[in-house]
Amino acid sequence: MSLGAMDLFQNVPPEVSVYEVSPRDGLQNEPIIVPLAGKVQLIEALAQAGLKRIEATSFVSPKWVPQLADAGEVIAALPKIEGVTFSALVPNARGLERALEVGLPEIAVFLSASETHNKMNVNKTIDATLDVFREIVPPAIEAGVRVRAYVSTVWGCPYEGDIPVAKSVRIAKRLVELGCYQVSLGDTIGVGTPKKTFEIVGAVLSEMQRDQIALHFHDTRGTALANAVIGLELGIRTFDASVGGLGGCPYAPGASGNLATEDLVYMLHGMGVTTGIDLDKLLYAGQVASQVVARPLSGKVHQAGTFKLRKV
Ligand code: HMG
Ligand code: MG
Repeated sequence: MSLGAMDLFQNVPPEVSVYEVSPRDGLQNEPIIVPLAGKVQLIEALAQAGLKRIEATSFVSPKWVPQLADAGEVIAALPKIEGVTFSALVPNARGLERALEVGLPEIAVFLSASETHNKMNVNKTIDATLDVFREIVPPAIEAGVRVRAYVSTVWGCPYEGDIPVAKSVRIAKRLVELGCYQVSLGDTIGVGTPKKTFEIVGAVLSEMQRDQIALHFHDTRGTALANAVIGLELGIRTFDASVGGLGGCPYAPGASGNLATEDLVYMLHGMGVTTGIDLDKLLYAGQVASQVVARPLSGKVHQAGTFKLRKV
């Protein structure tokens, strides 16, 4: 039997939307609080690189995530950039109020498929969190704000281990019923493997439309890109990523390292998938990210650069 590349990658979409999370998922996890100017510099560099969807900050409690206490100031300081949508995490009515005050066009609500992680992250049960979303998602939509959602720890929880796939599917469907336009499924602690990804995404796709789903991988154990390939092969068209591999969840030990945007984009372009992103400018944004957090970052392409011939 001879297999051609067409057989192997026949379902991969021609175009992918990359949803950038570094200013939020990255900076929320840093030991230092990045000054407002550094945050704005990073976000502008990401937009310059061609990222069209950028999660800029979080309207969560500053007591819980002091790194992003200046959320309102960050949004107010950002220039309007044609074609670029900024978003932010919102956990409750107070968060929505703050997001509306600064005219944010999109928000993201979030909860965990693990009861224990959800309690650690937002101090509520899953059901109580969904009750809160019932109070904030419809008014947000009525106010003209698009609402995205996250379900985290879908691939596994640091406290509960494996989470039944049916539970994540049930939660994701409820979020869509509430009006969320897309649900991002998170491998928050980076334990996923391609086989598990095939099972999870396959199960979700049997109940939801593929454009209602985004995938959010962490590269903690080096499997993020392999998982992304499975998502692509299953026809998923939105992937979350974080420049340089910045980030993690402060309430999920071991959640270091989101899938690096440069690694994802390098792979996608190499597979002939377009993203609208300029990889060289993205590498520059990664350097800005490293500067503002004052440490080296783990992303592979961030470290190695693109594939260019060198003079001997
Ligand atoms: P709580 O302590 O149960 O709630 O926190 P509370 O209502 O008692 O609020 C505590 C204090 O915070 C009060 O202030 C509130 O006013 C204030 P005090 O009266 O003590 O002075 N407060 C707020 N202030 C500003 N904005 C708000 C807000 N809400 C309350 N929105 C709460 C409950 C949900 C607020 C808290 O647990 C929280 O903020 N949690 C967020 C934690 C977080 O951001 N974690 C990281 C998210 S990353 C993630 O989940 C995974 C993801 O990245 C995907 C993946 O990687 O897989 C999405
Ligand atoms: Mg993440």
